[in-house]
Amino acid sequence: MTHLTFRQKAEKHWTPERIRKLTGGKSYLIDPLSGAELLRSLGLLNADASMPADAVRKYAQINHMVALMQPPLSQLSERFPVLRILDCGCGNSYLTFLLAWCFKNVWKKKVVLTGIDTRADVIAKSTARAHELGLEDYLSFEQISVQDYQKRRDEIADPEARKASRNHVIVGLHACDTATDDALALAFSEKSDAIAVAPCCQAELANRWRKLSAEHFKNAFSVLIQSPELRRDSCSTFTDALRVLLMRGQGYEVTTTEFVPSAHTPKNRLILAQRRGNYFEPALHEYLQMRTALGAGIGLEARLSGEASEILQRLSALE
Ligand SMILES: C[S@@+](CC[C@H](N)C(=O)[O-])C[C@H]1O[C@@H](n2cnc3c(N)ncnc32)[C@H](O)[C@@H]1O
Repeated sequence: MTHLTFRQKAEKHWTPERIRKLTGGKSYLIDPLSGAELLRSLGLLNADASMPADAVRKYAQINHMVALMQPPLSQLSERFPVLRILDCGCGNSYLTFLLAWCFKNVWKKKVVLTGIDTRADVIAKSTARAHELGLEDYLSFEQISVQDYQKRRDEIADPEARKASRNHVIVGLHACDTATDDALALAFSEKSDAIAVAPCCQAELANRWRKLSAEHFKNAFSVLIQSPELRRDSCSTFTDALRVLLMRGQGYEVTTTEFVPSAHTPKNRLILAQRRGNYFEPALHEYLQMRTALGAGIGLEARLSGEASEILQRLSALE
């Protein structure tokens, strides 16, 4: 019996008809034939190169996610000969691998992709996987927290060296709780050109509201503040709205979108932003109005940078 390599199995299995059936005739960036080794490594293909039924939806989602990020990345690749992307709280680094693969095989552009995470096991696993897939020239991983990463960046005294090594794009998918804000604060201080974050388990505003609830605080949102279930649910949306305003205040054009169907996970909001300037005062004004209406703001407000930070302090003092 002839022993087929995984590539040969993929070529045998993924006939044009099967690819069409899988993609519904859509053009996917990562097709199951050219991306077979990547998809196998990510657990989305069986050993015989077929796709398990429960991976079909995930496969569509990851393609959708990369397609959402493609327009800003392609614009930035034109501006910067080597694009630098940092994935904060990368975990198993699915997105980082997909992006590295697309930069190498589809977009054919240079990129320095770095995944950081506090967990040693995911960093070791991702480093080994990058070598297995021949992507080690495109991406690397480091065990470090987002906060420590920023401290190290802040210690670079030479402004030219700091600028040359800054990250053009900051990504943070489901980085826990305030790690999303750590990623945003890093992007603000680096003047990163684009940001993509999918927030996760926001507890900060809910904790502030819980304290207000104990103090029998009353405002227009009291019914949400007093009820634990309504509080939890509404706080994640309010937190993201406050983040969007602060990001706009820091000079970013921001959109929010659903990146996986909500049936799959409730944490499905992707915040995409592109830097247009250093600050935008009306958004900071709006942030303060919302903070007053809610009875509490978020810690990210203290982590704005440059003029945006000065304007927020000035407007705040006038309240
Ligand atoms: C829910 S996982 C998400 C992983 C990956 N981004 C994804 O979307 O599949 C969150 C990851 O963030 C990491 N993390 C949490 N706080 C962090 C911090 N302050 N700095 C770096 N990594 C952090 C955790 O160790 C974990 O691997």
